[in-house]
Amino acid sequence: MGGTLEGQFAGRRIVVTGSGRGLGYDYADRLASEGADVVLAEIDVGLGRAAEAELRGQGLSATFIETDVASEDSVEHLAAFARQWEGGIHGLVANAALANNVGGKSYDEIDVETWDRLMAVNVKGTWLTVRAIAPFMATGGSIVTVTSASAFSGSTRLLHYVTSKSAIIGMTRALARELAERSIRVNCLSPGLTVCEATKDIPEKRWQEYAEKRMLNRPQVPEDLEGVVSFLLSSASRYMTGQTVAVDGGVTLL
Ligand SMILES: NC(=O)c1ccc[n+]([C@@H]2O[C@H](COP(=O)([O-])OP(=O)(O)OC[C@H]3O[C@@H](n4cnc5c(N)ncnc54)[C@H](O)[C@@H]3O)[C@@H](O)[C@H]2O)c1
Repeated sequence: MGGTLEGQFAGRRIVVTGSGRGLGYDYADRLASEGADVVLAEIDVGLGRAAEAELRGQGLSATFIETDVASEDSVEHLAAFARQWEGGIHGLVANAALANNVGGKSYDEIDVETWDRLMAVNVKGTWLTVRAIAPFMATGGSIVTVTSASAFSGSTRLLHYVTSKSAIIGMTRALARELAERSIRVNCLSPGLTVCEATKDIPEKRWQEYAEKRMLNRPQVPEDLEGVVSFLLSSASRYMTGQTVAVDGGVTLL
C-alpha cells in the first residue's frame, strides 16, 4: 500500500461507518494497516462480518458492530460499546451514506419516502454518529465527515444526494466550532467520482463527461483517498479544523 505510515495509529481506536464494503472498507483497511484498532460500524451484517474476517485474516485489528446510522437506538448501541473502550476513541470516519444507485430521477420525480430515507442516513446519520461517539473521544481526537464533488458541481438527477452532501459541509463547520473546546477536530473529505463498487454501473459516457472536468488525466481510485483520510486523522493535520478537502483530481477548486 503506497505511502502507508506503519504503526502511526498503534493503540488508537478508530470508528469507520459504512465500512462493510467500498470506500469505507478501504479506509478501515488502510487505518488498520497503520496500526489502528478499527471498529466497523455497518448496517449489513454479512458485509460487516466478511470485512472483519478479511482484516483479521491479514493480522489486523478489526471489530464489527452492526449499526444503522439513521437509527437513534442502533447508534446508541454503538455508543454503549464506545463507553467501555479504555483510552477512549481517537478517530471517527462518518462515511456511511446511501450513495449507490441513488441517481437517475429528476427533482420532480424523486418520491418523498426516498428523499426522507436518504436524508435520514446521509445527514441525520452523520449527526447521530458524531453525537454518540464524540463524548468518548480523547482530547486531540479527529472526526472526518464525507461530502462529494457533486455538492460543488450540482449534478443533475441526483437532487436528494447533492442536497444531503451539501448539508455535511455546513455540519462539519458547525461541529468543528462546538468540538474545538475539547480539542476535537472535524474536517470533511470531498471525493470525486471514484472507481469502486458503487460506481461500477455508471455508463462510460458519464465517466467521459466527468473526465473533461478533471485536471489530472486518469480515473480516481480509492488509494487516492485513503492517505488523505489517514492524514486528517493524524497529528500531521493537527491545526486543521472545519475544512473541506477536495480530493478529486482538480474537478473542484475550493
Ligand atoms: N464512490 C464515489 O465515487 C464517491 C464519490 C463521492 C463521495 N462518495 C461518498 O463516499 C462514501 C462511501 O461511498 P461508497 O462509494 O463506498 O458507497 P457504497 O454504497 O459502496 O458503501 C456504503 C456503505 O455504507 C453502508 N451503509 C448504508 N447505509 C447505512 C446505514 N444506515 N448505516 C450504516 N451503514 C450503512 C452500506 O451497506 C455500504 O457498506 C459515501 O459517503 C459517499 O457519499 C463516494
